[in-house]
Amino acid sequence: MNIETTAHAAQPPIRLGIAGLGLAGSFMIRAAVAHPRIALCAGMDPLPRPREAFARQFDAQVYSDFHELCRDPSVEAIYISSPHRFHASQAVEAMEQGKHVLVEKPLALTLEECDEVIAAADRTGLHLIVGHTHAFDPNIREIHRIIESGELGRLGMILAFNYNDFLLRPHRSDEFDSERGGGIAFNQVAHQIEIVRLLGGRIRSVRANVGALDASRLAAGHCMAFLEFEDGAAASVVFSSYDFFDSDELHHWIAEGGTDKEPHRHGKTREAFLARASDLEAHEALGFGARILPTEQPYWIDCCDLRTWRHAAFTEWHSDPRRSWHARDCGASRCRPTWTRERS
Ligand SMILES: NC(=O)c1ccc[n+]([C@@H]2O[C@H](COP(=O)([O-])OP(=O)(O)OC[C@H]3O[C@@H](n4cnc5c(N)ncnc54)[C@H](O)[C@@H]3O)[C@@H](O)[C@H]2O)c1
Repeated sequence: MNIETTAHAAQPPIRLGIAGLGLAGSFMIRAAVAHPRIALCAGMDPLPRPREAFARQFDAQVYSDFHELCRDPSVEAIYISSPHRFHASQAVEAMEQGKHVLVEKPLALTLEECDEVIAAADRTGLHLIVGHTHAFDPNIREIHRIIESGELGRLGMILAFNYNDFLLRPHRSDEFDSERGGGIAFNQVAHQIEIVRLLGGRIRSVRANVGALDASRLAAGHCMAFLEFEDGAAASVVFSSYDFFDSDELHHWIAEGGTDKEPHRHGKTREAFLARASDLEAHEALGFGARILPTEQPYWIDCCDLRTWRHAAFTEWHSDPRRSWHARDCGASRCRPTWTRERS
């Protein structure tokens, strides 16, 4: 994938600060460091452990407070990878302090908050990108290309399904509280909606059922949605996160990020959940510097490797920074489109 152009190379790098040094922040740090057009100049997290790891590794400012990050004049743009409930207010504050914003999904927890963030972008004239992921998956790009080309006829149905162990992974308490952005609708189904919107276009109607079935983890853990698109196609979106079935089994045990998954590990997330004393401790132990991130994606052909996998998004940002429908990197997709062949 050619990610640099002469025109881009001539521009000074974007001076990036990262708010939230957890899983998403860790991936972004790696990509930012590898990208010639990004200068990583600050990191922020309320937790000391990821901050200390960040300070050890980079010659960059480290903050425990988001307001301080926003006031740092050396920071030009902020990537917000904090917990969901902070996204809207932090995005607005960052723009009011003159920073461009790349905010993780979901943009906000309510439509009103979304409007406030968009209004701040309009008011300040700064760039706002919602960091959706999966439009950059090579397989989704290819599906999109085929749909756009019309070579298989008109799109009729999209089936998107994912059964995984999300609910049983270590989580903070806010991740079980939908009022604070918890549950799979905000965290996981957002990915599927991004994919089906990219493939199916503008949505005319949505009908959905979201529920919580695991008595030990009372948070939204499954969702079934039916979406109709303006051009008449439809999508069914199914997500279940109880760690009883893993739909990667239907994908030759290839994991979300294009890596091998070991079938015998199925069910281990529940075992680990039952064995651990503190969810919070287990979660906090996974901050920046503590996780082993995968280094290659053998099943994603024609894609840059994991050290550079977010380059494509950065390049999009340079070329058309106001694009808001996707940004950033690559990731999961369990998606099956169906075409109706138009008879002539
Ligand atoms: N696009 C993707 O593929 C992808 C993948 C993972 C996560 N995400 C998104 O990234 C965001 C973070 O998820 P994560 O999995 O990295 O979570 P995480 O819990 O691993 O990391 C969140 C970090 O934010 C810190 N934090 C807490 N309060 C904060 C505040 N007020 N300001 C700044 N940081 C604060 C936490 O201490 C933690 O280190 C979420 O929006 C999530 O949906 C996206």
